[in-house]
Amino acid sequence: MRAVTWHGKRDIRVDDVADPTIEEPTDAIIRVTSTAICGSDLHLYEVFGPFIDEGDVLGHEPMGIVEAVGSQVTHIAPGDRVVIPFNIACGQCYMCDLGMQSQCETTQNHEHGTGASLFGYTRLYGQVPGGQAEYLRVPQAHYGPIKVPEGPPDEQFLFLSDVLPTAYQAVAYADVPDGGTVAVLGLGPIGQMSARMARQLGAKEVFGVDMVPERLQMAARHGIHPIDLSATDDLGAELRELTGGRGPDSVIDAVGMEAHGAGLAKTAQTLVGLLPDAVAAPLMEQAGIDRLGALQAAIDVVRRGGTLSISGVYGGAQDPLPMLTMFDKQLTIRMGQANVRRWTDDVMGFVTDESDPIGVADLTTHRLPLAEAPAAYETFQKKQDGAIKIVLEP
Ligand SMILES: NC(=O)c1ccc[n+]([C@@H]2O[C@H](COP(=O)([O-])OP(=O)(O)OC[C@H]3O[C@@H](n4cnc5c(N)ncnc54)[C@H](O)[C@@H]3O)[C@@H](O)[C@H]2O)c1
Ligand SMILES: [Zn+2]
Ligand SMILES: [Zn+2]
Repeated sequence: MRAVTWHGKRDIRVDDVADPTIEEPTDAIIRVTSTAICGSDLHLYEVFGPFIDEGDVLGHEPMGIVEAVGSQVTHIAPGDRVVIPFNIACGQCYMCDLGMQSQCETTQNHEHGTGASLFGYTRLYGQVPGGQAEYLRVPQAHYGPIKVPEGPPDEQFLFLSDVLPTAYQAVAYADVPDGGTVAVLGLGPIGQMSARMARQLGAKEVFGVDMVPERLQMAARHGIHPIDLSATDDLGAELRELTGGRGPDSVIDAVGMEAHGAGLAKTAQTLVGLLPDAVAAPLMEQAGIDRLGALQAAIDVVRRGGTLSISGVYGGAQDPLPMLTMFDKQLTIRMGQANVRRWTDDVMGFVTDESDPIGVADLTTHRLPLAEAPAAYETFQKKQDGAIKIVLEP
């Protein structure tokens, strides 16, 4: 089959790889009909090289048609239309029972001290072949796959795999008080949907911060108050002025480790990228290399006693953080990979509502053949051609 594979920093190709087969009674095989590129894939494209091997198949936002199931998979059958969550979780361990599927004890990666395995996401997360491919082997398929109805186009359901549950969790963790205010930093797909969800879930005012014009415009179309980072030299002051001098009750960081505007860490990330894996991997595991521009802004912007919800991915081990300010302001901070299956029932209500309350139909900017993945990654990373969310079609 054809699959999107990693070959090096900013070197993505479409190769022939072996067709997947059922290996465990809890497996399923799906024929992929749509598979999106995520901001998390851009971290693999740019900084996570030391943890990924040449030929690894990328992708963790797939949906498609069930081709085959193992003997223990009973809730889906060949021919069903399914969306595949990016976490691989068993649904029956202590952590899954707690609704912490990203920490599933059946698929945790003890060798690296990391949580549940993820599709297409480095040795740290199980090195499981990903979903940017014609076919996908789905482990733990007795639990993961979400059956969706026939009829609407794939994009109506595709984002149940990651973006929508991630956004829902970001808002839940932000704990916005009734009628309160929230600022969302970063207006990529995660920020867009977090901002829209926050409005649906009762925030009085939602601010969206980015510097890419079409991303600010998309947010404004959905009732978000856009703030152009490139037009302000003091984001904290601007947001305090808009919120009675205090700052928003909650802030969602939907940017992560590759934030713009953090010179020193950018140099460190570039240097790590030039080292051989054997040297770079332990260095990355031991030294802080995140670009902290967005996180530092979030700490400054949020009001005293407010809540910071971090959904952007960070990977540094010794990031310097302003503890004095964080302690003095008495912040609450929650973070982590989304526990996809914990939220999918809640989110399903939004995507099956014909009035499309969160505007799922207004997120995908590009639908391209899988063969065009190399150019698609570049377009998405460089934010060219108005790209906000790119869906590949195998
Ligand atoms: N927690 C999870 O489970 C989970 C799931 C999916 C994605 N993510 C992470 O969420 C983040 C966003 O993903 P995405 O798909 O929306 O990616 P994206 O790259 O499209 O979005 C990031 C946005 O942040 C903006 N930005 C950069 N620096 C900024 C700054 N200093 N202030 C404000 N905005 C800034 C960029 O212009 C861009 O629009 C990534 O880090 C991704 O890895 C986490
Ligand atoms: Zn994703
Ligand atoms: Zn589990």
